[in-house]
Amino acid sequence: MAKSRTQYVCTNCGKRSPGFLGRCPQCGEFNTMQEEVLEASKSAPVKQNRQPAGTLRAEPQRLHEVQAQVEDRYRVPVEEFNRVMGGGVVPGSISLIGGDPGIGKSTLLLEVSALLANSLGHVLYVSGEESAHQIKMRADRLNLNAPDLFLLTETNLSNIFEQVQRIDPAVLIIDSIQTVYADDLDSSPGLVSQVRECASRLQALAKSSGISVFLIGHVTKEGNIAGPRVLEHIVDTVLYLEGDPFQTFRLLRSVKNRFGATSEVGVFEMQGAGMVEVPNPSEAFLAERVVNAPGAAIAVTMEGTRPLLVEVQALTSPTSFGNPRRTPNGVDMNRLLLVSAVLSKRVGLRLHEQDIFVNVIGGLKIDEPASDLAMAMAMASSYFDVPIPADLAIMGEVGLSGEIRAVSQIAMRLNEASKIGFKRALIPRMRRKIDQIPKGLELLPVRNIVEALQVAVPR
Ligand code: TYD
Ligand code: MG
Repeated sequence: MAKSRTQYVCTNCGKRSPGFLGRCPQCGEFNTMQEEVLEASKSAPVKQNRQPAGTLRAEPQRLHEVQAQVEDRYRVPVEEFNRVMGGGVVPGSISLIGGDPGIGKSTLLLEVSALLANSLGHVLYVSGEESAHQIKMRADRLNLNAPDLFLLTETNLSNIFEQVQRIDPAVLIIDSIQTVYADDLDSSPGLVSQVRECASRLQALAKSSGISVFLIGHVTKEGNIAGPRVLEHIVDTVLYLEGDPFQTFRLLRSVKNRFGATSEVGVFEMQGAGMVEVPNPSEAFLAERVVNAPGAAIAVTMEGTRPLLVEVQALTSPTSFGNPRRTPNGVDMNRLLLVSAVLSKRVGLRLHEQDIFVNVIGGLKIDEPASDLAMAMAMASSYFDVPIPADLAIMGEVGLSGEIRAVSQIAMRLNEASKIGFKRALIPRMRRKIDQIPKGLELLPVRNIVEALQVAVPR
């Protein structure tokens, strides 16, 4: 057996060091350095049989001779899922689905695997976290009926590979990658070296056999379990399932996709019977809207290639003592500070003596600058206690001198606003003509924040 060497890797920033350090010299975090085995034993049993001998050597090919296989995707009858995957699941691809514990990753993938099993044949769902009985109970609750879906409760990677060879599934789900381990490595499951090695072996399996693999990864706050971030470069597609645990909406967001657009978003709702797709998210986000309430504005934001209408609420209230508070929920703190500074300086609102709360309805996070103007109007509306007209949709970036800057893809945003039933749109004054203005939508172009206030918060 070859002697194994070790090094230490920071689970937070990836800094490597030959010896143990209590504090990472790169990111300054304590207790994040973790041992990693560099050279495992030479007789790795899994490594040898994961690829048939004949396929090891690759030959160069002329680019135009390479067969393009565009149509080769497994479509899931859940359009929101296909959208995020770039049109469907690519055979032989490996995807990572990350998210906080309890957000609904297992639920979503169990549903998807049952649907795939019904159209493709064998699908293998490997769980290292729950017993087959628990998964069956969940499947009953979700009303799933898939005779070709196989469950396996196993954490040893070689045993998983053995069962994969026996069952020959089209799709393999590993729930979660932090629980599986390769027994020829010395480190325990969940450590960086284990998680990375298991993922690369599964990647090799996907590439050589054409099986589509999904890895579930928990986002952890502790330093001793490797998070999904250490895997992002190994896999083809990285999706994150996010959402406020107290709300029912869940967003599946792609942050990396070798087969499609990134930052695409699929919207789901966690209901009693599982994750249900939300085909019209703008309508869903505006469902509980109270019209004519001061402090509420409708922003039109782009999530990937899709425009979304969301309600941005703001509340300003006099500070009782000391420093005024700024509490963002769903928006970036820096943008909140910028917008309130512009309102103080350019419009003269006395926000330095006000606490400001900003909330995006539906658990959505909007970090696009194009939603600045809606946030500014919501704050001013709450400050003056004057409601924003209910038929007004708002888009625009706020600049430091109070100017309203152009936004991208304005035609798509206007279309969505008109589709939902908005009659007027507050937009930046654009130098280029907007093509295809939807019928029945009045455009109100403004140059700066003072003009915007005259339209949105008339006093
Ligand atoms: P789960 O998929 O187990 O989360 P993860 O795998 O990301 O850790 O989801 C757990 C939560 O979802 C749990 O709090 C209960 C809730 N849930 C529902 O609301 N409806 C359902 O149909 C199911 C199966 C779960
Ligand atoms: Mg789970």
